[in-house]
Amino acid sequence: MALFNPPKGTQDIYGNRALSFAYIEDLLISIAEVYGFIPMRTPTFEQTELFERGVGDSSDIVRKEMYTFLDKGNRSLTLRPEGTAGVMRAITSEKLYATNDLPLKYYYVGKFFRYERPQLGRFREFHSFGVESVGSTSPYRDAEVILLGVSALKLLGLKNITLKINTLGDEQSRLNYKAALKAYFKDHLTNMCADCHDRYKKNPLRILDCKVPSDQEIVKGAPNINDYLSKEALERFNQTLAVLDGYEIDYEIDDLLVRGLDYYSHVVFEFHYVSNKGKDYGALGAGGHYETLLEDVGGPALPGVGFGMGIERLHSVLSDDGLLSEESAFELDFYIMNVGETSFEVAFSLLTHLRSLGYISEMNFEKFSFRQLFKRAERKNAKYALIIGDDEVENEVIQVKDLHKEKQVAVAFSDLSDYIDTLFIEDEHNH
Ligand code: HAM
Repeated sequence: MALFNPPKGTQDIYGNRALSFAYIEDLLISIAEVYGFIPMRTPTFEQTELFERGVGDSSDIVRKEMYTFLDKGNRSLTLRPEGTAGVMRAITSEKLYATNDLPLKYYYVGKFFRYERPQLGRFREFHSFGVESVGSTSPYRDAEVILLGVSALKLLGLKNITLKINTLGDEQSRLNYKAALKAYFKDHLTNMCADCHDRYKKNPLRILDCKVPSDQEIVKGAPNINDYLSKEALERFNQTLAVLDGYEIDYEIDDLLVRGLDYYSHVVFEFHYVSNKGKDYGALGAGGHYETLLEDVGGPALPGVGFGMGIERLHSVLSDDGLLSEESAFELDFYIMNVGETSFEVAFSLLTHLRSLGYISEMNFEKFSFRQLFKRAERKNAKYALIIGDDEVENEVIQVKDLHKEKQVAVAFSDLSDYIDTLFIEDEHNH
């Protein structure tokens, strides 16, 4: 047994899986840039109070799931459980709203931490990509962000995504709705879980998210947000939906969708997908509009909209559906087989030369039999073997073996550069 294992809910990601993560992140970044977002990196930990104020102390994230610690200077810090609060803090600290045109549009990718029960698609340390668009009141900005999310998932090759969408209305709509929920749940509370008692006090909207089956039955009879929306809030929601209709984006209105973070108002949404293996890893991405978050963390009163997407979950569905095979295979262009007593120097200088030209290359420094070398080349997915022994050094030739076609030719040192160029031009043609 190993002495140490990765802590519960964390994992080591390496090799092809790490390559696939990078592929997914790069694709998300490039589409976000097409939509005019620019990068932002914020600290991995922030003052605990930022999340208490931002994400909200009625959310499960703040109540139960934060990795909070005191540093040596007795400051309470928390490993970021999500990205939006940190971006709002940066916009405020750096006064980005004062020195840039609005809306401010940032994307980010990184690690996030939640003390959750690990299960399918749920980790304690996970990777997420997110975008935030801050400073515009237009409902079209909400639609723009949703369009970006849909386009990204399509570009990754996922068809048949389910976009669940709802509105939480403006502050007055939500106050009216919360009052109605309180009136309804008051009579049921004795039969509900301890968490729901707490939610009832702090934010009855959270009860709609309760996973306890008997509580879910009670939730079915609860008042509907639609009956409490102001005229303006409903109009705003319809404007966003009209944009989605215009671009033939399918959505399901889910009036129980309230999301687990306290900062949302107006539109909230989630992207769901069941892989070909029938597995549901949970929402691939989710987000919504927020009105007072920036102000809550000390900034100006500017609204925003954004979403986060989980890289582990995206990786799982893409892998189940065979949409990663090309992107995740690590391949060597050349495996140099140094097999003589006198060939090391020549082989090593060839290795350095090939690497300087950008070819992915490796060679053996230790002695191996031919059989072992070909096994190594195969395991490394090499396209070509370059064989150099004492005879080759003497005659100034190299044996070039195409490992896919099993074809071998002897090439003079002086012709090697040109020969390699033709190989890769041919390769490009064949793709
Ligand atoms: P969230 O729904 O809490 O929203 O997380 C966003 C995404 O991160 C989820 O849809 C899921 O794919 C992934 N995710 C969350 N928790 C885990 C976990 N424990 N393990 C693996 N993946 C996970 C937010 O965090 C908001 N900041 C989104 C947002 C941005 N809203 C507005 N702007």
